[in-house]
Amino acid sequence: MSFEIRTGERIALLGANGSGKSTLLKILDGLVFPTSGELTAYGQPLTDDSLSDPEINARFRSRVGFVFQNSDSQVFSATVREEIAFGCLQLGLSAQQTAARTADVLAMLEIEGLTRRFGDRTAVDQVTLRIPDGQIVGVIGRSGAGKSTLLRMVNRLADPSEGRILFEGVDVTALRGLELRQWRARSAMIFQQFNLVGRLDVLTNVLMGRLAAIPAWRSVVQLWPEADKALAMSALEQFDMAGLAAQRADQLSGGQQQRVAIARALVQEPDIVLADEPIASLDPRNTRIVMDALLRINKHFGITVLCNLHSLDLARSYCDRLIGMAAGRVVFDGAPEALTDHIARELYDLEANEVMGGQPAVQPDAATIPAAVAA
Ligand SMILES: Nc1ncnc2c1ncn2[C@@H]1O[C@H](COP(=O)(O)OP(=O)(O)OP(=O)(O)O)[C@@H](O)[C@H]1O
Ligand SMILES: [Mg+2]
Repeated sequence: MSFEIRTGERIALLGANGSGKSTLLKILDGLVFPTSGELTAYGQPLTDDSLSDPEINARFRSRVGFVFQNSDSQVFSATVREEIAFGCLQLGLSAQQTAARTADVLAMLEIEGLTRRFGDRTAVDQVTLRIPDGQIVGVIGRSGAGKSTLLRMVNRLADPSEGRILFEGVDVTALRGLELRQWRARSAMIFQQFNLVGRLDVLTNVLMGRLAAIPAWRSVVQLWPEADKALAMSALEQFDMAGLAAQRADQLSGGQQQRVAIARALVQEPDIVLADEPIASLDPRNTRIVMDALLRINKHFGITVLCNLHSLDLARSYCDRLIGMAAGRVVFDGAPEALTDHIARELYDLEANEVMGGQPAVQPDAATIPAAVAA
């Protein structure tokens, strides 16, 4: 066929199924090359050869917007993320600008007006947040601020009284049955108390993270696929725990148990890890090891981490972004550097003369130390 389109024209292509409408549009977008004939765009002839040159093709295609019929949207890329990234590259944005723009457009977790009431107490009150892909976010605030309730709602361990939680555009508050179980696997939870099965060995505990991915009967008879065992071992290696794979979980220290729990979360292949006070029952050395493991999950594997922490100092040094909660509401949301001492004091409800950080967190009460020892 031969025809010409002038700038500003609005043209409808009509025809029965299979008449060639989509193929024609794809030729016009450079997605499909014509078998013969010539396409001239903006005065430049586009031949087979020039269209297969990635640079010319990209330059041409950047001037042609394309809206696909549903089933055609995956012609050249697998995900919405790649489509957006492709668009950014066509606009000539750098890789860094593309990453920033994509993250902004595709906020992975969107929380809208989320509220949870227990009787007449409001644990989480109208929380609205956007968490883009790839951040490690610390949720801070004093006891009872609503941190755990917020995290539990994201994983659907608790249901909201009001509001929505969207993950990559899907309303996870509405999921039921199989889809809900799949969502729980994609949002791996790490608890203060580790939640391992004490009488089982370390490797089996990590394999539990694969439960959502394999048929139930195989896990009942403990017939784990070899590929899953290899995955579990390599997860243990990530956190320096492979040597303890055969050990019973209840024979490990707290820090080791939490690393097993993090390995279990990793083999779930989650999109987001939710950690509720993961270091609350650990000593300073193990605190660092476990926080380093979470940081590795985020920076090395690119998994978003949302982590409740009591310690402001830890949150400041490990997180890209802090969310401060008080009485169920978000009262701070920003970079760690933006959290002033003034805001920190408000968050923790401290008096003006009480300083955050810089001094030993816990000191024995002088009155309880016998005079002889104190002297
Ligand atoms: N299952 C429940 N039934 C009744 N009240 C609850 C329940 N869970 C939480 N709450 C209340 O909701 C509020 C927020 O609790 P939440 O556990 O979310 O706080 P938190 O910030 O995690 O505190 P902490 O730092 O002590 O863990 C508190 O007032 C708490 O008493
Ligand atoms: Mg809590």
